[in-house]
Amino acid sequence: MNVIAARTALDAMVSGISDALREAAGDPSAAVAEVLGHYAADPTLLLGRDCPCRAETYIRHLLHEQEAEGWAVAALVWRPGQMSPVHAHRAWCAVGFHRGLLTETFYAPGDPPVPTGLALRRPGDTSHGPARADAIHRLANLGTETAVSIHAYGLPYGRFCTDLNSILAA
Ligand SMILES: [Fe+2]
Repeated sequence: MNVIAARTALDAMVSGISDALREAAGDPSAAVAEVLGHYAADPTLLLGRDCPCRAETYIRHLLHEQEAEGWAVAALVWRPGQMSPVHAHRAWCAVGFHRGLLTETFYAPGDPPVPTGLALRRPGDTSHGPARADAIHRLANLGTETAVSIHAYGLPYGRFCTDLNSILAA
């Protein structure tokens, strides 16, 4: 019963992303983030999916890929203290926050980039950004519980490690 419900929520989210991408003109990240916001806090979203954390760093788990259309959705799992590097994206990105508490810090370009603000991200919140070198951010789990976020990117999953992020600082 629960597994069926989980598939339904994830399938509905993926279908909503597909629709948003079909309808979007230009950067689709805001439209995709709006879809993620509808499902991100659903406690059944990842039921039946094995998304373990990793001791050393945050970890991505593929949830869905439309390789031919050039996009994919992954769950990122963050233990307390784990964070991304400071980075910009080479593809559009949209995030829905599923569990726990994450801190998103924004930066202005510079060497090194300069922090300009931050936002606490709770379940159901969203964030998004275009493929742009000056849209710089970092996600960090500064809370006390494992956090999970749902990320859609305008790239096939096989290119996430090599072509997704421009890393600007550790
Ligand atoms: Fe990012």
